[in-house]
Amino acid sequence: GAPAADASTVAGLARKKLMGYVGFANLPNQVHRKSVRKGFSFTAMVVGESGLGKSTLINTLFNTTLYPRKQVAPPHQERPKTVAIESISADIDENGVRLRLNVVDTPGFGDFVNNDESWKPVVDNIESRFDAYLEQENRVNRTKMQDNRVHACIYFVQPTGHSLRPIDIEFMRRLHQKVNLIPVIAKSDTLTDEEIVAFKQRILNDIAYHNIEIFHAPIYENEDEETMLEIQEISAKVPFAVVGSNTEIDTPDGRRVRGRAYPWGVIEVDNEEHCDFVKLRQMLIHTHMEELKEHTNNVLYEKYRSEKLTAMGVTQDHSVFKEVNPAAKMAEERSLHEARLRKMENEMKLVFQQKVAEKEAKLKQSEEELYARHREMRDALEKQRLELEDKRRRLESGRPLTPEKVSQATKKKGFSLRN
Ligand code: GTP
Repeated sequence: GAPAADASTVAGLARKKLMGYVGFANLPNQVHRKSVRKGFSFTAMVVGESGLGKSTLINTLFNTTLYPRKQVAPPHQERPKTVAIESISADIDENGVRLRLNVVDTPGFGDFVNNDESWKPVVDNIESRFDAYLEQENRVNRTKMQDNRVHACIYFVQPTGHSLRPIDIEFMRRLHQKVNLIPVIAKSDTLTDEEIVAFKQRILNDIAYHNIEIFHAPIYENEDEETMLEIQEISAKVPFAVVGSNTEIDTPDGRRVRGRAYPWGVIEVDNEEHCDFVKLRQMLIHTHMEELKEHTNNVLYEKYRSEKLTAMGVTQDHSVFKEVNPAAKMAEERSLHEARLRKMENEMKLVFQQKVAEKEAKLKQSEEELYARHREMRDALEKQRLELEDKRRRLESGRPLTPEKVSQATKKKGFSLRN
């Protein structure tokens, strides 16, 4: 049937044998060369209460003094705190591979009288970076995309040895769907090994109980044994119990190490027996930097993007509706305009009729006047004609009227008048 045919097609697709050398086995090298040329970039964020060693750990992680200002503070001065979200960038180079490292340092929370919404500026910062990326994606020219999204958020848990505090839970709940959360136990040199083991378990329980998703290094099927072991080892250490230090000290056995000196001995940052710093660095930089970036892009950003676009879709539909509306609006305007025209036409007709009527009345009047004048003139002419006729008759008779004839005529007239 059809499914079998599909399966065979897929199988057929999957198992094509090459007849000779093609050359695409070099693809990984091409990618490698290109990536090395372009360089890499990574943005990490540190979140946690003030004074938990966030700045120190970042300096320790990347083996640079990204935070020199904290180093120069003399002992008698108050230790400078991070008071606003700040981003520091550094280009670091290792064996010719360039890494542009961006660190977003957030002000230590817990310092405020009201810590209810201390997560808000952090979430806003993460989202505004998503927005900036989204904006770039929507541009016409997308060749120079700058990715400033936060790829990992190292969350510092106070080394209380108890369990997560409500503020930790609140923070993580607000962040976990927006950023790869990597919880660490800060200043773990203040806890004993047993305390750390128990503390880690309680933290993981809390995280599970509150359905908080933290970053888990995925294990892919065809991973080689060594990588698989490495990932398993890393995963087993979550939440990483870390120690940070930027100072090198001498151990009793004569080595120079990065660490913290105590009356009872030296805690070595780079010693896996002493803390999980190495495992954290390994995951963050050595094995999972790309994974963190990919997860940020494919899952976290994608979720944010689709939610944002859906939310905007309403307004977008609205705007589309508005955009479509101009046609409707034009139709409406046209009908209004037509109505206005019709009204004007009617008014003009009225005025015209009125004017015509006026003109007609005027014409009639002048006609009557003309008739009257005509009558007058006719009467006057008739009178003249009669007089002239009379004169002619008299002239024809050849004799002028004698005075008696005149009086006779007058008498006759008077008689006729009386009659
Ligand atoms: P804010 O900027 O105020 O948020 O502080 P921060 O979390 O960046 O802390 P910072 O790195 O400035 O460290 C605070 C203090 O803790 C400094 O005196 C550090 O030397 C010390 N410190 C840092 N890391 C560790 C650690 O792992 N263990 C111990 N015991 N102390 C540490």
